[in-house]
Parts: sequence; C-alpha cells; structure tokens
Amino acid sequence: MSSPPRACVIGWPVEHSRSPVIHGYWLKHYGIDGAYGKEAVKPEDIADFLRTLSEHGYVGANVTLPHKEAALRAVDQADTAAKAIGAVNTVWLDKQGLLQGSNTDAYGFMINLQGLAPDWQARCDVAMVLGAGGAARGVLYGLIAAGVRRVLLTNRTVAKAETLAREFGSPVDVLPWDKKDSALPACGLLVNTTSLGMTGQPPLEIMVPALPTAAVVADIVYVPLETPLLAAARERGLTAVDGLGMLLHQAVPGFEHWFGIRPDVTADLRAEVVATLEAG
Ligand code: ATR
Repeated sequence: MSSPPRACVIGWPVEHSRSPVIHGYWLKHYGIDGAYGKEAVKPEDIADFLRTLSEHGYVGANVTLPHKEAALRAVDQADTAAKAIGAVNTVWLDKQGLLQGSNTDAYGFMINLQGLAPDWQARCDVAMVLGAGGAARGVLYGLIAAGVRRVLLTNRTVAKAETLAREFGSPVDVLPWDKKDSALPACGLLVNTTSLGMTGQPPLEIMVPALPTAAVVADIVYVPLETPLLAAARERGLTAVDGLGMLLHQAVPGFEHWFGIRPDVTADLRAEVVATLEAG
C-alpha cells in the first residue's frame, strides 16, 4: 500500500511561508489523506535536495526564496512560464519519475486580477509595472501573454529594468523612476512589484490621483493587506487588487499536481490566511 502523498515548501529561511496554511486548509477541506510541511534547505544543498525529493518522502514542493532560480536549473523539465520568468516555484514528480517545474506566479497574478477586475483589459491599453525583481518578471510574463499592448516598466535601478525590457521585448518600454508620475494619466493598470509599502519598508510615493478614473491598481505586497497604495486607490474610487489573492491562486496548480484535486480559492480560505497574517 502506498503512503499518503506529502509535499512541502522549501526555502531558506522558510518559517515565514504561508503555504502550509493554504495547503493545510485544502487538505482538511477536501478530506485528503496527505500532508504539507516546511523544509529549510541551505542554498548549497538545494539542487541535491530537489534531485532526491522522493527519497525525502515528497511527491512535490513549492520552492521559495532564495531557491527559485536554482530550481529552474535542477528540474528535468520546465514549462514555458518557468523558462520565460527564469524561476520555478512549483515542482512535482511525474509518472515517469521526472521532476517537472512550473512557475505559477504569473498565473496567480492574472487569475486574481481577472477575478477582482473582470474588465481590466478593456480599461488597459497601457500598463505600468513598478520594480524589476523576480516578482516583476512574473507580472510582465502574465501581462504580455494576456496581450497587453504596451507596458511601461520603471525601477529605481534603471539597468535592471533595461535588462528585463530586452528579455521581454517590444511591448516593454523603460521609464525613468522619477518620470513615473507624468506617465500615469495614460495607464489603465498600475502594478507595484517593489517591496515599497510592505510593513517595515518605506511607502511607495506615487501620484495615484493622476491615474484615469477607470484604472485598476494592483499591489503584490500583502503585509499589510491594504497597502498605502491600495488605500489611496480606493479613496480615489479606483479598483484595488491586493496581493493576497495572487498568493492564494498561485498555490492551486501545485495542490492539483500533488493531491489530485483542483482546489477552490474561497472567502473562507482567505479569512484563514488573513487571520494568520494578523497574528504576525
Ligand atoms: P522580488 O523578487 O520579490 O521582486 P527583489 O528582487 O528584491 O524582490 O526586488 C525588489 C524590488 O523592489 C526591486 O525592483 C527594487 O528596486 P532595485 O532594483 O532598485 O533594488 C525595489 N525596491 C526595494 N526597495 C526600494 C526603494 N527603497 N525604492 C525603490 N525601489 C525599491
């Protein structure tokens, strides 16, 4: 008899990860005999750990900071999104025992955006993305795959934005960080992928009132849930999309691979995760 499937989140550190709350909720909700844990793995050990995942008793895993790029190199096969984003956040062993890797961040961001602002694309000829780190790569991939015509990419360190613009090609134009306010009137979607506005970080300074009245504002920061950027957007009557939805949705494909059921992102799940965020 085979033992119940087990998955985990692998990070260094890993304590802060909310993934066990999300997957633990679904395992209980669907009455699945399985488990989801945490593994603190040092950067020098990640490739070995992934290559011996089944010996550790796992059918798959989420991979978080700082291992996402190393995971792309360690998997046997990576999907299109993972290759384009340059990072893997979800792995699973397929029927042949091959380690498959995906990046579900873009999927999570786009599904959440679609859910909270179903007509976002009709309002969005031009999008502005703030930041040029790993999260920005996922958002750029998602927006371009959805057909956004033009993305203005702006980052404090302009060279990093230029590198991303070269990789992602013609829809992306780099905008100097100090010029972002003047481009806002043309933008139907503003996405913050920087750490600005996160608890303990400086706020993001941007002229939200300069956005069109139909604009959508998304933040990938979810601590706090209502960032100063989202609060300013709501105050102006704009559609605000918080970062927690992305976190919940990006977990869906992994759970399906490991445990065989495609789980729903519900208000009840969200409330459970919010309660853990509020508990600190
Ligand atoms: P992630 O992988 O989550 O995207 P990251 O790679 O550390 O994280 O990227 C953080 C982003 O927040 C970067 O775009 C960073 O700008 P730089 O590339 O100039 O470092 C941005 N960021 C962090 N602190 C910032 C600050 N004080 N002002 C402006 N941008 C900031």
